[in-house]
Amino acid sequence: MTDNTSRIHGTWSSRWTFILAAAGSAIGLGNLWKFPYVAGANGGGAFVLVYLLCIALVGIPVMIAEIMLGRRGRQSPINAMRRVTSEAGLPRFWNSIGWLGVIGALMILSYYAVVAGWALQHIGAALSGDFQGTNALASSQRFAALLGDASSLVLWQSIFMIMTVAVVIGGVVKGLGVAVRVMMPVLLLLLVLLLIFGYREGNFSAGWSFMFNLDFGALTLHGVLVALGHSFFTLSLGMGAIMAYGAYMPDNARIGSTVLMIGGLDTVVSIMAGLVIFPIVFAHPELQPSEGPGLLFVSLPVAFGNMPAGLFFGALFFILVTLAAWSSAISLLEPGVAWLIESKGMSRVTANLSLGLIAWVLGLGTVLSFNAWEDYRLLGFNFFEFLDFITSSVMLPLTGLFIAVFVGWVMKEYIVREELADDSPWMMGIWYPLVRYLSPILVAVVLVAGIYDVLLR
Ligand code: PHE
Repeated sequence: MTDNTSRIHGTWSSRWTFILAAAGSAIGLGNLWKFPYVAGANGGGAFVLVYLLCIALVGIPVMIAEIMLGRRGRQSPINAMRRVTSEAGLPRFWNSIGWLGVIGALMILSYYAVVAGWALQHIGAALSGDFQGTNALASSQRFAALLGDASSLVLWQSIFMIMTVAVVIGGVVKGLGVAVRVMMPVLLLLLVLLLIFGYREGNFSAGWSFMFNLDFGALTLHGVLVALGHSFFTLSLGMGAIMAYGAYMPDNARIGSTVLMIGGLDTVVSIMAGLVIFPIVFAHPELQPSEGPGLLFVSLPVAFGNMPAGLFFGALFFILVTLAAWSSAISLLEPGVAWLIESKGMSRVTANLSLGLIAWVLGLGTVLSFNAWEDYRLLGFNFFEFLDFITSSVMLPLTGLFIAVFVGWVMKEYIVREELADDSPWMMGIWYPLVRYLSPILVAVVLVAGIYDVLLR
């Protein structure tokens, strides 16, 4: 570990801490909230298959590349790119990987805090018995009432933003390790419990077929783009988050096996979340898989309200959703903060407060898109949907494309080999062709076709 980085930001104590932190970043609202509703909105099985293919053929290879860049650059994404590009003797254009990432991260953080705020609100709702004996209709109404109440949305959004800023001020290494170590196992355990509940009380077979029966008629080109974008989103790629964490990764840690583990864990959590939610949805005719962003928050209270000790499990579940969101939000804020500290000489506190404020203000647009601005549309999207589309479906794939092309074609092969020196030889054999040919071609084709599809609507 070299120079500035360890002094300014600290180093992960071990490869294991890195895995936990990266898993903490990857596993979040993307798995528990977003995956089920985008799968539901895009028809289920075929979407899930495309999503899994995107994870394997694009997400995992790009994640390896992104960690490599971060570790090679050993700084915030923007400066890491500067360093790696100058090492390669390249024009400054390539720095845009760092820029796009930091801006995209702030845009995502803005709505992420709003949705995490819903989870926070649901902890209290569970504890005060709001879900007790509730049915699908009452649950939908309860959630609609929350969405209609802008001031309470802003309150919860603000609390979550303060939580995030506070940890990043404390320093990522100190703040994160502990949280993740406790949280992940409990989250998995609870998902298993809910899965058993859904299996016994819900319509499991209908939920299962929805997720795994291939109905390609239900999938649009736009849907394919959403699947691709979501594979970046869920693995925290293309935003500097994983690059920034890579900068803190020990030199001799094996990248390949680490990434496979994180990618595997992340995928398992998403699939489990789907298998928890859809059986409940199909057991209640008033609930639709295509419910949209409210899916998690409408369907699960119905389960909690009708299970033994549901009050306890409900509160615990939304605590875990909040924690998972928290450890991801931290990684959305950290890259920009690290850059402001390194390059602008800002203090950690000022950098955090400035970026936190920007994301908070932008988040107000998302809050309003669920009530006062509901009817304002751009390309058929409301503000939140538009922000989500631009970030997940355009910026992330674009940055991912840059990263793949950069590591595959621009970075000198001997440097790549050096970075992978501790990895098994199959890495170069399988990963390198993927990152050079297949991943960039897939991303480019899906990006162009998907955007075309949206413009034509
Ligand atoms: N991967 C996180 C999730 O699935 C979101 C995230 C995206 C976090 C990008 C950091 C960077 O919820």
